[in-house]
Amino acid sequence: MNPLPTHIAIIMDGNGRWARTKGIPREEGHRRGAETAENIVEACRDMGIRYLTLYAFSEENWQRPLHEVDALMCLLQYYISAKRSKMIENDIRFRTIGDISKLPKEVVLEIERTKEETSKCNGMDLILAVSYSSDSEIVRAVNKLIAKGVKEVTAADISSHLDTAGIPNPDLLIRTSGELRLSNFLLWQCAYTEFYFTKVLWPDFTRKDLEEAIRDYMKRERRFGGVGEGA
Ligand code: IPE
Ligand code: IPE
Ligand code: MG
Repeated sequence: MNPLPTHIAIIMDGNGRWARTKGIPREEGHRRGAETAENIVEACRDMGIRYLTLYAFSEENWQRPLHEVDALMCLLQYYISAKRSKMIENDIRFRTIGDISKLPKEVVLEIERTKEETSKCNGMDLILAVSYSSDSEIVRAVNKLIAKGVKEVTAADISSHLDTAGIPNPDLLIRTSGELRLSNFLLWQCAYTEFYFTKVLWPDFTRKDLEEAIRDYMKRERRFGGVGEGA
């Protein structure tokens, strides 16, 4: 049996399809998805998960229709400011990965304020991936090394220049909505991550579904290229 995962990463997918099945606008799916995110943060905190990374918005998502992007930015801004005191109360440190310079100024201000006010929290790290894409994160890391005049890089150099520097790699990655792909999420960091895919659409994902994913993970044998226990 594996111990509880230290770091869980989630691709929160299926808000649009959830809304479509109900005949309501996609934006309403995102609103419900944000409620799910809040519940899952709470569940992870209760269970003692130390790091939780949530994929909220990819760099590729900028291509979506303007009204949908605007609605997502509004939701982001609302949640990051409205849940700030709850994060402090629950000892949750808020962090982001991704190129936040592309976000509207108001959203960046809320992000910076929440990061600052939760910087001493120590119970759980909540890492939001916003305007995030793994390939550009890796390119940014390499460019930072070039700017330092480094002639040759090691894997450790790259790891320590990614947005996730200092955060252990995810043990378990969950993707909802039945898609079987990473969509440019944590490509480097998921080298030995266990994957769990579920058809449940993100707005319908519950604490029970999370527990099921964790139970499944705990039963797996992680070998990291070794021969494993039965050998
Ligand atoms: C995930 O739900 C949320 C974001 C990508 C922002 P989607 O909006 O991708 O929902 P589907 O995949 O269209 O159902
Ligand atoms: C990935 O979902 C990004 C987020 C969940 C934020 P997408 O819905 O954008 O991924 P694709 O386009 O189906 O691969
Ligand atoms: Mg999707």
